[in-house]
Amino acid sequence: MGKVHVIDHPLIQHKLTLIRDERTGAKEFRELLNEIAMLMAYEVTRDLPLVEVEIKTPITVAKAKMIEGKKLGIIPILRAGLGMVDGILRLIPTAKVGHIGLYRDPETLEPVEYYCKMPTDIEERDLIIVDPMLATGGSASAAIRFVKERGGKNIKLMCLIAAPEGIEVIQKDHPDVDIYVAAVDDCLNDHAYIVPGLGDAGDRLYGTK
Ligand code: PRP
Ligand code: URA
Repeated sequence: MGKVHVIDHPLIQHKLTLIRDERTGAKEFRELLNEIAMLMAYEVTRDLPLVEVEIKTPITVAKAKMIEGKKLGIIPILRAGLGMVDGILRLIPTAKVGHIGLYRDPETLEPVEYYCKMPTDIEERDLIIVDPMLATGGSASAAIRFVKERGGKNIKLMCLIAAPEGIEVIQKDHPDVDIYVAAVDDCLNDHAYIVPGLGDAGDRLYGTK
């Protein structure tokens, strides 16, 4: 079963409180989302392999560590996942970015993919699928399935806030995928919103409500 990593650094908790607050407007919401994503990326990439290299400091020749050159891919789930990409790219500027767009068919309630563009060498990359909200888990589970169908193998899921229900779905559908979250909230309400959550992430990010 995939592990759940709760990244609850004080800076992240502080910013999460601000982003949850209904008085936080779109501009500040966008900034906070990117800042939290950047801080979380620090922990999500903790297992990146290192190699030893030789360098010359102004004082002497020394052996030092560098990242092995592992290829990374960031895959936001449209639309709200886009709000996390720039923050992660600030830490990992060489990562490639794929995009996946989903909507839920109102009749079948099945997630339907409406857009998908992945890095061509997806099977060689360590992939981080990002979306601020993991509610029922339907969107993230479908996104992971679509990425796997295109050859994606080493996948992590990174969300800001998760409901226990969504975590359970991902662990059942994709036991190979570890989940990284800043907080696990109480439950879902009757409209499948996370409680206490932060409301509709896409609408708050883009000011569409
Ligand atoms: C939100 C959120 C997730 C999804 C989570 O997106 O960004 O993608 O809901 O819900 P789930 O776990 O129950 O699937 P939404 O579908 O509102 O689209 P948007 O990003 O375009 O606003
Ligand atoms: N999608 C959101 O944007 N927020 C929730 O609480 C649940 C799904």
